Amino acid sequence: MSASPRTFYITTPIYYVNDRPHIGHSYTTTVCDVAARFHRFLGLDVFFLTGTDEHGIKVEKSAGERGVSPQALADENAAEFQRVLRMLDFTNDDFIRTTQRRHTVQVERFVQQLIAGGDIYLGQYEGWYDEGQEEFVPDTRAKDQEYKSAVSGRPLVRMREENYFFRLSAYQQRLEDLYREQPEFVRPEARRNEMLGRLRDGLADVPVTRTSFSWGIPIPGQDKHVLWVWLDALSNYVTALGIGLSPDEVDLVPRDRARFWPADYHVIGKEILFFHAIFWPAMLMALDLPLPRCVYAHSFWISEGRKMSKSLGNFIDLSTIQGYIDSFSLDAFRWFLITQGPLGSTDTDFARAKFIEVYNSDLANTLGNSLSRVVNMIAKYFDGRAPQPGDYTVSGFDWPALTNAAADAAIASMARLELSEAMGSALGLVRQVDSFIDATRPFTMAKDDSKRAELAAVLYQCAEALRIATVLLWCAMPNKIEQAWRLLGQDIDPAAGNLRDLCRWGGLKPGTAMVKGEALFPRFADTEPSAQ
Ligand code: MSP
Repeated sequence: MSASPRTFYITTPIYYVNDRPHIGHSYTTTVCDVAARFHRFLGLDVFFLTGTDEHGIKVEKSAGERGVSPQALADENAAEFQRVLRMLDFTNDDFIRTTQRRHTVQVERFVQQLIAGGDIYLGQYEGWYDEGQEEFVPDTRAKDQEYKSAVSGRPLVRMREENYFFRLSAYQQRLEDLYREQPEFVRPEARRNEMLGRLRDGLADVPVTRTSFSWGIPIPGQDKHVLWVWLDALSNYVTALGIGLSPDEVDLVPRDRARFWPADYHVIGKEILFFHAIFWPAMLMALDLPLPRCVYAHSFWISEGRKMSKSLGNFIDLSTIQGYIDSFSLDAFRWFLITQGPLGSTDTDFARAKFIEVYNSDLANTLGNSLSRVVNMIAKYFDGRAPQPGDYTVSGFDWPALTNAAADAAIASMARLELSEAMGSALGLVRQVDSFIDATRPFTMAKDDSKRAELAAVLYQCAEALRIATVLLWCAMPNKIEQAWRLLGQDIDPAAGNLRDLCRWGGLKPGTAMVKGEALFPRFADTEPSAQ
């Protein structure tokens, strides 16, 4: 038992500080939080990173419009992003800001190393730039997009500058090899195909410095050049681990963090895939660093059937999110995001009617109802003590096998970041408990004294299956599940990393005291007729 546990490193994008946090940022961070919690509970050595991207022309412009310094704007909005981390109960292990010295020191070294290795050279760029995306857009694509941003629709800007270029073209072959040898480097499949298309188009060298503004990391010895924000930002995934530090520089980043590289998952939205799936691995190759295992690019939330945009004013913003949390609970909000969210390759609508439907069906009518039914029957027929399992079994309900299969399936889905599948396996157990109750009718058994042992066995099996289901569901709804554990008389500490042991059939001790409590998820009756 002395081998150290496997590491699991998962990251969110670092968010631009010129924007206020909204559902999009909350979603990606929730996905990472759920995966991080699950893998910690499984006993893995987890590092979960998020943070803010604070340099670049967008931040400089926004600050200018507001009459504050870029740093002041960054401080204010980074604090806002950190407030959301607490509001949504995220368990990130660090929060990196690209204006922190621990980050900039390492980025400067990376740049020096790239220059020394011939991967960065001085040149001249003339072409199109998408300021919202901080992206250079080749002429052919700019034309296809009618000289507008593919993401925001705003006009592209014509740019003519002396820049340092990164020799991306030199990595064409190695990237093609990577995509072939590591077919899951980019997921889902549709996104991988998109990147294969970009590789087929051929890669051009990319400018990695800018001279027309100053809010960025200066190029060492070349102060009129500041670093292009993407090279700066992507580096966060390794600077937070101190990968660019020498062994004696322990004051900036704890040295033992280096064990987390390479990342298991960079979770991002689809609009920033090229940077993560092509530029970043090439940069790591140039720096001679190992590559991440998977870049997972999810799709987008839209709002009540329409793309979210500033002009429509339909962003699901923090106050809307707070409204959902107040009405349904934080855990119900997390549940909706991860079971209904756009982890696949199509966009998903965030609609109130859908939220209510999912809440009532999964949480009020299934999980909450099943828990209170079982705990109430145990209270009524067995004085609130978990009964003896006995040896009574019902055909079609081989519980040790059913729970084992659900746990295996949930663990396997989680490892692949298939969150709704994992939660489906766990909730599936709860649904099976309901079918079991329908099939065995314990309330009828209770009227017949000769069926006492059978009744005990049935309710033991129900409670035990629910206990295992809750262990699997904890990562998504930690607060509610901890409440459920109190009802079931369970003293569980996910920090112990013993999820597998807890999923073994028979863990529930007969005699355990169970308590009737408030409904975990009260049914939500909406006043709007369209809701049901
Ligand atoms: N700063 C860059 C990322 C640098 S990472 C090295 C950036 N920041 S951002 O603030 O614009 O955040 C973009 C991310 O927010 C997306 O990749 C995605 O994770 C999330 N979302 C923003 N809008 C979204 C939706 N409508 N739906 C889902 N997620 C989206 O890009």
